[in-house]
Amino acid sequence: MLSIIVAKAQNNIIGKDNKLLWHIKDDLKRFKNLTTGHVIIMGRKTFESLGGILPNRKHIIFSQNPDFKVENENVKIVHSMLEIQEYIESEEECFVIGGAMIYNLLMPYVNKMYVTEIHKDFEGDTFFPKINLDVWKEVSREKGPKDLENSFDYEYVVYERREK
Ligand SMILES: NC(=O)c1ccc[n+]([C@@H]2O[C@H](COP(=O)([O-])OP(=O)(O)OC[C@H]3O[C@@H](n4cnc5c(N)ncnc54)[C@H](OP(=O)(O)O)[C@@H]3O)[C@@H](O)[C@H]2O)c1
Repeated sequence: MLSIIVAKAQNNIIGKDNKLLWHIKDDLKRFKNLTTGHVIIMGRKTFESLGGILPNRKHIIFSQNPDFKVENENVKIVHSMLEIQEYIESEEECFVIGGAMIYNLLMPYVNKMYVTEIHKDFEGDTFFPKINLDVWKEVSREKGPKDLENSFDYEYVVYERREK
């Protein structure tokens, strides 16, 4: 099964110039705790923004460029939806970690979303799609711990796909 993990601003911004716009220590820790030991699926741009391979996670990277290669046993480059069918059908939770293109591409196949909702608008160039509450049900909401680096509040919200 696929789950999305994302941190988004109040106005749905998730990044600018291929970077994140905030640094929230607890959120990064949560990302690490949730994704370690699992498959993480991402777009080529998000992979490049990571600046390296994240330990103990299998990286599936979408690219349309047949020449894009990463020589690492924990990396697989994919060019089509067909190649990720096994992760959609898997009983294991696989995490879709962005960016916008890949969230849009895979959202129809996702069952659960871990969304860090930042209570502030940001200026950026990349948006998370609007969460349609007819499709998604909020199942938990918890305030994130105060971060000394940031003045804004944020919440950890979990959504599950509603039964059809
Ligand atoms: N706040 C968050 O939680 C969060 C999480 C992740 C990312 N971000 C931010 O999001 C931004 C990056 O997002 P983005 O939307 O620009 O890029 P992206 O989704 O990370 O990557 C886009 C790339 O994926 C490949 N791709 C897209 N659709 C494809 C398809 N149908 N088949 C095969 N390959 C496909 C293409 O690679 P090629 O060009 O190689 O063909 C495309 O250029 C950055 O600012 C990043 O910091 C934020």
